[in-house]
Amino acid sequence: MKVNGKHFRTIWVDKDNPEIIKIIDQRHLPHEFIIEELKTVTDFATAIKEMHVRGAGLIGATAGFAMYCAAISSPENNFSTSINNAARKLIKTRPTATNLAWAVNRQLKAMAEVESREEKIKKAFTTAKQTADEDASFCRRIGEHGLEIIKEISKRKKGEPVNILTHCNAGWLAFVDYGSATAPIYAAHNSGIKVHVWVDETRPWLQGAGLTCWELGGEKVPHTLISDNTGGHLMQHGMVDMVITGTDRTTYTGDVANKIGTYLKALAASDNNIPFYVALPSSTFDWRINDGLKEIPIEERSADEVLYIKGLSSQNKLEKISICPAGTRAANFAFDVTPARLITGLITERGIVKADKDAILSLYPEYR
Ligand code: MRU
Repeated sequence: MKVNGKHFRTIWVDKDNPEIIKIIDQRHLPHEFIIEELKTVTDFATAIKEMHVRGAGLIGATAGFAMYCAAISSPENNFSTSINNAARKLIKTRPTATNLAWAVNRQLKAMAEVESREEKIKKAFTTAKQTADEDASFCRRIGEHGLEIIKEISKRKKGEPVNILTHCNAGWLAFVDYGSATAPIYAAHNSGIKVHVWVDETRPWLQGAGLTCWELGGEKVPHTLISDNTGGHLMQHGMVDMVITGTDRTTYTGDVANKIGTYLKALAASDNNIPFYVALPSSTFDWRINDGLKEIPIEERSADEVLYIKGLSSQNKLEKISICPAGTRAANFAFDVTPARLITGLITERGIVKADKDAILSLYPEYR
């Protein structure tokens, strides 16, 4: 994606020093564009936990590079203990996005295939790059498949704008490039189809307001920011043609964990007969679990994220302000689970599939 005319991915290797990995520190967006350098496992663990990088795909890609940097810093005589400690430290940072453990385990498996420390470092480097490249190319393909759904709606509406509601940020900032939920939107916009996006602000972190609006603005996709409680009203009044969200973990039976509030949008969409699609690369499937509600771990974050709100003051300063009486107790569940029955379809890199076990496993027969 382009930022001020220059192409960026969300994570890349420094061109002068391949032991340094660069990321966009998303905590400062949309107000400041800051690039951060990561080198140690602690740098990576902090960046994931504190959400300098976030979004399932990007968390996975970052974990891949983290394991490569862990290999560089692991001594010959203690390599396996050191790399396993790094793996455990990284996996603990955020529990819901399955891409994290998937990318770490992919690295452990790749490194186990070769003998010497030097070979393991090399292998970890190529695997990290492969994980990132795959993420970008899978998202591009999600865009191509999802485009067909938008085309169909646009045809039915005789070229009137297709109104798409999205929640959180499942855009290029949540992946290495393109995004999952946004990829079909960018593909439609770039092919001349009129689209308009309703962007849920996504309390408490405001990924919709801060990140999705910034991305869509950069690509000149028409969009309107709405408070999180607005979607149901819009749906009742025919102002939403489809919903597309991302997911942090999807069971092989089609249950989806995504940013808190996604479930409520799915309920409203179902009540109003509005198609509700979830876009994901296959790295977001958890092939071991079949009951999303019972088995997907839901991250609980600091209450401060609910008690305070961050933004740019009228003096142009980034400020954190309190929004409730001192001493208020707050709960901060970061994700919820939308059951498969509320999902119209999953848009994957291999095509669009029903959110059900047989359909998913026939698209991915290698996981049967
Ligand atoms: O807490 P975040 O910002 O990491 O949550 C991100 C989301 O919920 C996205 O919708 C999700 O990761 C799916 S798109 C990668």
